[in-house]
Formats: sequence, C-alpha cells, structure tokens
Amino acid sequence: MAQFSTSDIAAYAVVLLGTIVYFTRGVYWGVAKEKTFASSYPGTKRNKPAKTRNIVEKLEESNKDCVVFYGSQTGTAEDYASRLAKEGKSRFGLETMVADLADYDYDNLDALPKGKVVMFVLATYGEGEPTDNAVDFYEFIAGEDVSFSNSSDPPLGNLNFVAFGLGNTTYEHYNAMVRNINKALEKLGAQRIGMVGEGDDAAGTMEEDFLAWKDPMWTALANKMGLTEREAVYEPVFVITAAEGLTKDAPEVYLGEPNTMHLEGVEKGPFNAHNPYVAPITESRELFTVEGRNCLHMEIDISESNLSYQTGDHIAIWPTNPGKEVDRFLNVTGLLSKRDSVISIEPSDPTGKVPFPTPTTYDAIVRYYMEICAPVSRQFVATLAPFAPNEQAKAEMTKLGSNKESFQEQISDKCLNIAQTLEEIGGQDKWTAIPFSALIEGLNRMQPRYYSISSSSRVQKSKISITAVVESTHIPGRTDALKGVTTNYLLALKQMQHDDRSSDSNGLSYHLTGPRNRHIGVRVPIHIRHSNFKLPTDPSKPIIMVGPGTGVAPFRGFVQERVAQMKAGENVGKTLLFFGCRKQTEDFLYLSEWEEHKKVLADKFSLITAFSREGPAKVYVQHRLQDYAKEVNELLQEKAYFYVCGDAANMAREVNTVLVKIISEQRGIPESEAEEFVKSMRTSNQYQEDVWS
Ligand SMILES: Cc1cc2nc3c(=O)[nH]c(=O)nc-3n(C[C@H](O)[C@H](O)[C@H](O)COP(=O)(O)OP(=O)(O)OC[C@H]3O[C@@H](n4cnc5c(N)ncnc54)[C@H](O)[C@@H]3O)c2cc1C
Ligand SMILES: NC(=O)c1ccc[n+]([C@@H]2O[C@H](COP(=O)([O-])OP(=O)(O)OC[C@H]3O[C@@H](n4cnc5c(N)ncnc54)[C@H](OP(=O)(O)O)[C@@H]3O)[C@@H](O)[C@H]2O)c1
Ligand SMILES: Cc1cc2nc3c(=O)[nH]c(=O)nc-3n(C[C@H](O)[C@H](O)[C@H](O)COP(=O)(O)O)c2cc1C
Ligand SMILES: *[C@@H]1O[C@H](CO)[C@@H](O)[C@H](O)[C@H]1NC(C)=O
Ligand SMILES: *[C@@H]1O[C@H](CO)[C@@H](O)[C@H](O)[C@H]1NC(C)=O
Ligand SMILES: *[C@@H]1O[C@H](CO)[C@@H](O)[C@H](O)[C@H]1NC(C)=O
Ligand SMILES: *[C@@H]1O[C@H](CO)[C@@H](O)[C@H](O)[C@H]1NC(C)=O
Repeated sequence: MAQFSTSDIAAYAVVLLGTIVYFTRGVYWGVAKEKTFASSYPGTKRNKPAKTRNIVEKLEESNKDCVVFYGSQTGTAEDYASRLAKEGKSRFGLETMVADLADYDYDNLDALPKGKVVMFVLATYGEGEPTDNAVDFYEFIAGEDVSFSNSSDPPLGNLNFVAFGLGNTTYEHYNAMVRNINKALEKLGAQRIGMVGEGDDAAGTMEEDFLAWKDPMWTALANKMGLTEREAVYEPVFVITAAEGLTKDAPEVYLGEPNTMHLEGVEKGPFNAHNPYVAPITESRELFTVEGRNCLHMEIDISESNLSYQTGDHIAIWPTNPGKEVDRFLNVTGLLSKRDSVISIEPSDPTGKVPFPTPTTYDAIVRYYMEICAPVSRQFVATLAPFAPNEQAKAEMTKLGSNKESFQEQISDKCLNIAQTLEEIGGQDKWTAIPFSALIEGLNRMQPRYYSISSSSRVQKSKISITAVVESTHIPGRTDALKGVTTNYLLALKQMQHDDRSSDSNGLSYHLTGPRNRHIGVRVPIHIRHSNFKLPTDPSKPIIMVGPGTGVAPFRGFVQERVAQMKAGENVGKTLLFFGCRKQTEDFLYLSEWEEHKKVLADKFSLITAFSREGPAKVYVQHRLQDYAKEVNELLQEKAYFYVCGDAANMAREVNTVLVKIISEQRGIPESEAEEFVKSMRTSNQYQEDVWS
C-alpha cells in the first residue's frame, strides 16, 4: 500500500460491483439519482411552478442551444456534464444547460431544431446497465418500437449529438451504455459529432480520457455549428450575495442542516437519501488489537425513526469535514475572518441548481456541504490559475493544469486536497481572488458513505451495526497520514462516547455535536439503502461466503440470522465462511462471536481462515477456497448460494477466477464452460457480490 497511484485514487470513489441493484427505484421520492441536498428536496422547493418535462420547450424558453444530459449514479458523469456545459459557454459562447435524464421526456427529440446540440454523458452500471436516472431514457431510445411525436424519416435526422461514456474495463460490459445509446441514436438517423468518448476507471485514466476526448470533439462541434473560439472568460455559475441583516444565529440560516425540516428542528420521517435520520450511537468499540490500525464496531439505534432494514442492506453515513481541513480551506482562500458571514447563493442562470440550501455561512458550506478533502482534478487546477495570488503561482498552476506528468508528481502522488494544493503553490499568499462560485463549481457536494450492515434484522430489528476500518494511509514524502473523512469522524464519535482522554488524538477536531449543537448525545446522520445482497429465502439452502477484512461485515449478519433460524427450529443448510486477515492476534474480526455461533450451528457452520502475514507465504481466502474445492463444488451442486464481499480491486476478481478453476477441475469440464456456469450463477442471483474499494 506504499505506492499510491491515480488508479487507487479513482478506485476510492465509492465503488461496488456485481449483480446487486443499488438504488431501489422508486424508493426515494421516485427520484433515481441520490441527490443529497435541498435542490431536489420538496420541502425547500415551495412556491416553485411545476417544471416542464419538454426539453424542446425548455431550450426555447431559456434560450439555450445545447443541453448536456447526464446518466449518473455517484455524480462523476454529472460533474463531467457540468464541465462540458461550462466549457462550451466560456470558450465558444455556446448557450448550454445541464439536465438530469430523468427530468425530461424524449418522444419529441425529433422536434429539436437543427441548430441545437444534445450531449450525453453516461455511466454504466451492473451488467452493462444504465444508471437509475437513465433507465427510462435507455428503455425508450433502445426500445423495439420507439416512436416520436412526428413521423419524419429518419426520425432523428435533425438531432446532433455528442457522447461520452464512463466505465471500467474490469467489467464485462465495458461502457455498454454509451455504446448502446450511440448505436440506437445512429440507427434513428441522428448525427454524431466527434468520436464516442470512453473513460476508464480501472486504468485510473478517466480524467485523462475525458480531457483527450473533449478537445477534438470541440473542434468538430465548432466546425459543424460554426462556433468561433474566444478568449475563455470565467463566468460564475452562482451569484453570491451577503445576506443583509442576517447573522448566523438567525433561524433561517442553514448551518449544515440538510433540509428545511432539519433547519426547523423537526425530526420527521420518512427518512431517506434526502432526509437523514440523526441516529443515536448506542455502543461503539474497537475490534482490532494492534497499535496504529483501527476497526470500529458501532451500534446505531433506529427504533425512534420508523426506518427498517433487512439483513444485507447498506447504511449511509453523512459525514462532516474535519475542523483542521475546514480551517485550512478557509485560511488559504482568505475567508477565515468571514467564516460566519451569512450568504445567499442563486444560480446565475435559471437552469442552474445550487447544490445546497441557503442562506448559509462559509463555514457551514465548507464543513458540511462540500467535499473538500477529496483528490483534486487537473482541469480544476487549470481553471484556478487566473486567480492566483502572484505571477509565480499562476505560472505553476498553468503548468500543472496542462502537464499531466507534473500534476501526477506534485499533486496526485502526494494525495493533496484542494486547500493543500493551494498552500503548496501559493506559498504564504492567500488566494483571495478566487470567486467563491468557482469553488462551488469545482468541488463535489459532500456524499454520504455506505457501509454494509453487519447485523441481522431478524435478531436486532431496530439496531444496525456497522464494521468500519478507519482509513489512515501513510503517503511517502508526507508527514501527516491521509485520513478518510467519514471513518475518522466515526472514530472521533467513538472517542467522545468513551470520554477518551486522548480524544481527537489525531488532531482533526471534528465538530461532533452537529449544526446548532442539536446532536444530543452521540449521534450520526444516516439513511438506509436497500440492496439485493440477500440470504436465500429458503434457509435450508447451503451458503458459501467469502469475506476477508471488513468484507466479513454482511456475513456477521448472515450468520446471526442463521443462528436465529436454527434456534427457532428451522432447517438450516450448510454455512461456510471464508475469512482472512493479517494475523490471528491482530485483526481477527468477531472471533468470540464465531465461537458462540459454532456452538449453536455445530457441523452446519465452518469458519475457514486465511492469515496472510503469519507464515512465510501469503495465504488468502481464495487459496483456502481452493483447499476446499471438493466440498465447495458439492455444495454448488446442491444449489448453494455463493457470496463475496470486500475489496473489489483484486480479491473479488481472484475469487471468481478460483471458483471457475474449481468447477472446471472438479467436474472435468473446460474452463470456458465453467466460466459460463459462473456467469449463469450471477444471472440467477446464486452468485452475489457486495464489493467496494
Ligand atoms: C456498498 C458499500 C459498502 C461498504 N461497506 C463497508 C464496510 O462494511 N466497512 C467499511 O469499512 N467500508 C465499507 N465501504 C467503504 C466506505 O463506504 C468508505 O468508502 C470508506 O469507509 C472510506 O470512507 P472515508 O470517508 O473514511 O474516506 P474518504 O475520505 O472517502 O477517502 C477514501 C480514500 O480515498 C483516498 N483519498 C482521500 N482523499 C484523497 C486525496 N486528497 N488524494 C488522494 N486520495 C485521497 C484515501 O485513500 C482514502 O482512504 C463500503 C462501500 C460501499 C460502496
Ligand atoms: N489499494 C489499496 O491500497 C487498498 C485496497 C483495499 C483496502 N485497503 C485498505 O486496507 C485497510 C483494511 O481494509 P480491510 O480490513 O477491508 O482489508 P485488509 O485488512 O487490508 O485485508 C484483509 C485481508 O485480505 C488480504 N488480501 C489482500 N489482498 C488480497 C487479495 N488480492 N485477495 C485476497 N485477500 C487479499 C490481506 O492480506 P495482506 O494485506 O497481508 O496482503 C488481509 O489478510 C483499509 O485501511 C483500506 O484502506 C487498501
Ligand atoms: C457497482 C458498479 C458497477 C459498474 N458496472 C460497470 C459496467 O458494467 N461497465 C462499465 O464499463 N463500468 C461499470 N462501472 C464503472 C462506472 O460506470 C464508473 O465508475 C463511472 O465513473 C461512475 O459514474 P457516476 O459517478 O456518474 O455514477 C461500474 C461501477 C460500479 C460502482
Ligand atoms: C412536430 O410536431 C409539432 C407538433 O406536434 C410541431 O409543432 C413541430 O413543428 C413538428 N416538428 C417537426 C420537426 O416536424
Ligand atoms: C411512523 O409510522 C407510523 C405508522 O406507519 C406513522 O403513523 C407515523 O407518522 C410515522 N412517523 C414518522 C416519524 O414518520
Ligand atoms: C493561516 O495560514 C497561515 C500560513 O499562511 C498560518 O501562519 C496561520 O497560522 C493560519 N491560521 C490559522 C488560524 O490556521
Ligand atoms: C474498476 O474496477 C476495478 C476492478 O473491479 C477496481 O480495481 C477499481 O476500483 C474500479 N475503479 C473504480 C474507480 O471504480
């Protein structure tokens, strides 16, 4: 882990692979993409007229020539869409807007005038599936009997489009969305401008793929539409105004509350991705027995919330940025003295959306609403060059923005966040000339982080447990470790709960009592996301679980549930758990619990361990799986369910490979056939993954 490359960084974007459907459609207000803040929360949208779903009308009435549609799950595609829209405006004066694919109808795409252009920025999920917000569009456009308002021939002869896809080559259906939608549009006679762009997360080159694709695309578009490039001018997307007469104590000022109800101090459900429940943490403890690494077990009480969960679901934790980084950010941007000033933010264009509720303060924005600790994009650095505090810094920013090797060396390899980057480049000078709008535009809004629930809902219906390893990575050439935002926030909450004297020993100083100090006791904002990572409905089916490290989290819940079923006299099938960690004495998660469960489940339960740092050679879960080849194969023949959870980067793939090998050897069939068999297991949900990086 000493080496840190951009692929690691990219990999750390929230990740989960496999056959699960992550966002149960229709659960969250029927809105597909999880938008966390007020922009899509009905409570803050009072008095707004109903929005049109007619894109032709929308472009017409807002005087736009270009719409950039995005299909996005975790926000990357949405971010690229905004960047394209901004670049079109600043370089070519093209009137652009960004739109969520779920917000419009498409049956009148044929009625778009010839002079307009439609851009698509599309991520791919699952088995080559669309993001939730793109499902309807995809089904429409790639459907068998697509028909439009007018019956021209070809139907979309007037449509000019541009397409970029986001994908990951380690998935079988690489960039399937952009490929299929491009095909469908071309079949309908639409004219593509430029190449179909494809960005690859796996190689860690998403950003560079995007940059390399967009320049020729703009040239082609400028030719086609007769645009002329001008000296790029920065035009703020948001207008920031001081809220006259308001102080931070005024009741209408958002100090980090996610929506109006929270602002008003009303704790009211339904709680979901737009409205977190501020849940009491009733218990917290350390699971590792080694200095320098932490793994937290926490019990989160949902009994007062009306929330419910099922074994195998995910819980989302809404983090707060550490005080140390908040201060650094405000300091380097020259906002320290204004941190508590109240501001209002409006989009400068009616099609724009402010990503968080206002009026608010700089402090609240930086602490609660923006992702300030994340990796920095090279393009963002380039856009900040004109606002540098001195000529030297300006030249440096321009160089970093245009030279990917220097950027890698000076910024990415050191894992600097934006404020650290500005400190490094600016020396003692503050960056007071950066318009605050540029910071809002260039940084993502804060995302909740997901955790696999490690308890069984059958055993503890109103208490959710999580098992979270605290992210702290040594970076060569840096004195301070790179700390994960959420897990260190949870660690600080645990320390508060235990009145730990060395509390905040890592000096990050989180504000733990929440906006307006309303988090009484030890509390954390959460919501729950349902998953398809589930035990077989018939408990007598055998199961095989592979979960090294924190990957064991959901399996703790699974085994708890099987114990309860056993105690209730149900017929419980064979239950195999492959668990791996470094050393028995250091990071063996839940050892005593497994011993208790073994007493109940007896020969129904086997825990098979792999300790990677005890012997001369590494032993991993997949090696142990191989040792049990015969039994694994027999259980699969009895229709065992196979589950993998944990590290997506290598482990999950290697387990898949080993399983193919086992099936091939045990059944005497070619590997290709065994591979097909495993694929069919995935399709029929007999092989389920819950993996992340
Ligand atoms: C479905 C799902 C289930 C999950 N279940 C669990 C679970 O049960 N247990 C568990 O422990 N985790 C789980 N995770 C992972 C979890 O969601 C978080 O990603 C993880 O805890 C890190 O969050 P964080 O906020 O602490 O770190 P973040 O602040 O999000 O940082 C994550 C990592 O990104 C890198 N990074 C951060 N900032 C920078 C920078 N400026 N430059 C370069 N690199 C940077 C660092 O390596 C850091 O460790 C799950 C994820 C998913 C998607
Ligand atoms: N790319 C990365 O740097 C990366 C990726 C995932 C997790 N992590 C970090 O690891 C820490 C702990 O996470 P965790 O508890 O989930 O896991 P962990 O403690 O890192 O790993 C659990 C066990 O899995 C082993 N393992 C490593 N690579 C494997 C592979 N390819 N196949 C099978 N097993 C493998 C580990 O062995 P060895 O460690 O001895 O090899 C260890 O025994 C976190 O801080 C996280 O940041 C880092
Ligand atoms: C659970 C999951 C499944 C994915 N499935 C695919 C896939 O089948 N094909 C592919 O090319 N990329 C796949 N990807 C990669 C995403 O498309 C890529 O990470 C993208 O940047 C996500 O964009 P977003 O942040 O806008 O949602 C998957 C990513 C995740 C997390
Ligand atoms: C399509 O039909 C609508 C009315 O439904 C009409 O207003 C429009 O001009 C037509 N467009 C084209 C391109 O034929
Ligand atoms: C909880 O659920 C009950 C029964 O469905 C309902 O009457 C009540 O209003 C809900 N409370 C909250 C806080 O949502
Ligand atoms: C702000 O940054 C300067 C260095 O530029 C540093 O000397 C000062 O202590 C910082 N102030 C705070 C409050 O962090
Ligand atoms: C792409 O997939 C690979 C393998 O599953 C994984 O290493 C990596 O984390 C993924 N990249 C991202 C950023 O999602």
